Amino acid sequence: MHPSATPPKPPGTSAGHPDVLVIGGGIIGLVTAWRAAGRGLRVAVADPAPGGGTARVAGGMLAAVTELHYGEETLLGLNLASARRYPRFTEELEEAAGQRIGYRRCGTLVVALDADDRAHLRELHALQTRSGLDSQWLTGRECRRLEPMLAPGVRGGLRVDGDHQVDPRRLTSALLAACERAGVVFHRDRAARLTTAGGRASGAELADGTRLSAGQVVLAGGSHSGRLAGVPESVVPPVRPVKGQVLRLRMPDALPGGAAFLARTVRAVVRGNPVYLVPRESGELVLGATSEELGWDTTVTAGGVYELLRDAHELVPGITELPLVESCAGLRPTSPDNAPLLGPTELPGLHLATGHFRNGVLLTPVTGDAMAEVLATGNLPEVARPFSPARFRPTAPGSERARALEEQPV
Ligand code: GLY
Repeated sequence: MHPSATPPKPPGTSAGHPDVLVIGGGIIGLVTAWRAAGRGLRVAVADPAPGGGTARVAGGMLAAVTELHYGEETLLGLNLASARRYPRFTEELEEAAGQRIGYRRCGTLVVALDADDRAHLRELHALQTRSGLDSQWLTGRECRRLEPMLAPGVRGGLRVDGDHQVDPRRLTSALLAACERAGVVFHRDRAARLTTAGGRASGAELADGTRLSAGQVVLAGGSHSGRLAGVPESVVPPVRPVKGQVLRLRMPDALPGGAAFLARTVRAVVRGNPVYLVPRESGELVLGATSEELGWDTTVTAGGVYELLRDAHELVPGITELPLVESCAGLRPTSPDNAPLLGPTELPGLHLATGHFRNGVLLTPVTGDAMAEVLATGNLPEVARPFSPARFRPTAPGSERARALEEQPV
C-alpha cells in the first residue's frame, strides 16, 4: 500500500478502526467496498438498508453506444472502459458471491417511429460512426425481422450488438454477498454527519449518535451525496436527483412458433421521450423511464405510468396484453455535466463516488476498480482522472469563476 494512502491511526482509536468507511450502500458504495476489501483494506459501510438504492429500480442497460450524447465524448471513454470490463467483472463477482448477476449479451435495437425520430436517429448514427462505434443502420422491415413484436410503422433503426444488459437487483444482491464474504462490516444506520480531525475527514457520526472513525471516507450516497452535514461547502458534491419511473411486466415464455417476445433491448425516442424495453431471461420485461426534476419525490404517478405505457405501446403494441407486475421510481444522482465524481476531494481523506446519473449500473466495474486503486495507493487511475471532483471547484480551469479571474486586468 502507498505510504500516504492511509494515515496513521489517531491515538485512542479502537482496533476496529477500518481503513475505509463508505457512506452509502447502493451499488456504487458496495462495489467500492468490495473492491477495496479485495486490495487488503479493512472496510466498513454505513447505510440503513444496504443494497436498497436506485439500482433496484434501474433497467440495467449497458448502453455506452445507444445512450451517446453530443458533448459527452469524455464520458463515452469511461462508459466503454466499464462495458469492456463487464465480462471479467461478472466472472469475479459471481465467483465471489456464489450468485449469478444476469449479465446478458443480447445487444440493443434503437428504432424510429416517424420522420422526426428517424432524423434524430440518423444524427445519433453519424455521431456513433464518427466516434468509431459499432452501429448498423436497418430499414423498418429489417428491424421487424429481428423483433417481430415491433409496430408495423417502425421506419428504421440502429442495431448495436455491443450494448448488453445486467439484472441490477441480482447485481446488488451479489455485491452485498461478496462484501459480506470479504469481511466488509455493515453499520445499518444513516450517516448523519461527516467528522473531521486535524484538517482531514476522520469518519462519520450515525443518526443514533454512534461515531465511526476511519483512515479514509468515501461519500457514495447517490442523489443524497450533497446533503451530508459536516462536509465543507467547497467540497459538497453538486449532485441533484432526477426521478425515473419504471414498470415491470411479465413476458410469455415464447410466442407461438417459439420466438421470444423480445430477444434484445429495444428503445426509441417517442415524441421526444426516451423509452426502453429490457427483456430478461427470467421473463421480466422492464419498461422505462421517465425523467423528472422534482427533488426527492419518488411517487409513482398515473401520468408517468400512462406516458410510459402509451409510448411503449406505440413501439410494441403487444405489451398491453402482458401482466403488469410492478411500478416503482428511483432517483438518478446527477451532476452538472452528467458524469460521475470520482476520487479525492480538497478535504484530505474524503473521496467521492457519486453523480453517475443514467450510467450507474454500466459504470459499476470501472468505479469499483478506480476507487479501490485510489484508496489503496493514493493514485486515481488515468481512466478516472477526467472525473475528479476538482473539475467543479469554483476556480477549476475552465470554470466561470476562473475565466472571470483570467479576464481581470493585472
Ligand atoms: N439508463 C437508463 C435510465 O437512466 O433511465
